[in-house]
Amino acid sequence: MRDSATIGAASRTPEGFDITPRNMHFSVEALSHDWHGGDAFRTAYFNALSIMFPIGEQHFIDSVKFYRGQITDPALREHAQAFSAQEYIHRREHQRYNEALCALRGYSLDRLEKPIRRRQVWALKHLSSIVHLASTVAYEHWTAMLADALLRKHEALAGADPEMAALWRWHAIEESEHKAVAFDVYRAVGGTLGLRRYMMFVVTVQFFWDTFRHMRLMLRNYGGSRTALWFNGLRFLFGKGGVYRGLGRTYLDYFRRDFHPWDHDNRAEIVSNMQELNARASGAPS
Ligand SMILES: [Fe+2]
Ligand SMILES: [Fe+2]
Repeated sequence: MRDSATIGAASRTPEGFDITPRNMHFSVEALSHDWHGGDAFRTAYFNALSIMFPIGEQHFIDSVKFYRGQITDPALREHAQAFSAQEYIHRREHQRYNEALCALRGYSLDRLEKPIRRRQVWALKHLSSIVHLASTVAYEHWTAMLADALLRKHEALAGADPEMAALWRWHAIEESEHKAVAFDVYRAVGGTLGLRRYMMFVVTVQFFWDTFRHMRLMLRNYGGSRTALWFNGLRFLFGKGGVYRGLGRTYLDYFRRDFHPWDHDNRAEIVSNMQELNARASGAPS
C-alpha cells in the first residue's frame, strides 16, 4: 500500500529545532573493566550495542544519502546532511570504542561483527534501496526509543564510569535530535506503509538477536553464577523501571498509519541532558 498522502512530504522535525553534529572524543580506558558499576551484565549490554554501531550507522548514512537527489524540501535536505554528520561521528567514536574494548578484554571484533557483515553483503546484493531505507527507519525508531529511555531514566547509567556515561548520553541526545530524518526522507520519496511495518518486524528480530549474541560471547568466561547474572540483568532491562519498560506503546505506535517520530516530543529531555553534559565538560556541578 503506497503511503500516497505523504509523497513529497517535508521535514517534520519541529521548526527552529537544531540537529547539531558535535565533534566529541571520549577516553575509552574504562573499557578494560566492567565500567557500569562493576556489573558484568550491564557493561556487556552497552558494549554489545556498541559493536553494532559502526556497520549499522554506515548503512544508515548510505541509505539516506542514496535519496539525496530526490529531496526537494530545503529543511529536510539540511536535516539529512546533519543526520549523516552526526552518524559519521558516532560511527567513528564507536569504532574506537570497539577496537579498544576488544584489545583490552581479548574479544575478537572480527568474530563479533562477522554475521552482521555477511548479512549486510547479502542485503546490498539482493535488496533494493527503498528496503535499505525502510530498515534504517526501523532501526532509527529503535535507537530513538532507547535514547529516550536513557535520557529519561537516569538510573540506566547510574554507577557507570562518568566518561562512558557521557559518551552514551551524547549519543542518546543526538539520536533523539535526528530521530525523524530517515522517516521523513522515506515519506518524501514515497516509501510504503506496508514495507515500513514489515521491516520493523525484521529489524526487531535482528536487533535482539545481535544484542544477545554479542552478550553471550562477551560473558562466556564469566566466573560467577550465570542464573543470578541473567536474572538480575534481565530485570535491569525489562523489570520495574528497566530500560525497555514502558516502550511497548511507543513500539506499537510505529505501526500506526499516521505515526510520526515527533508525536513523542522529548525536546525537554534533550535540553536538560545537554545542560548536564555541558556542565560536566566545564567542570561545573550538574
Ligand atoms: Fe548514531
Ligand atoms: Fe541514528
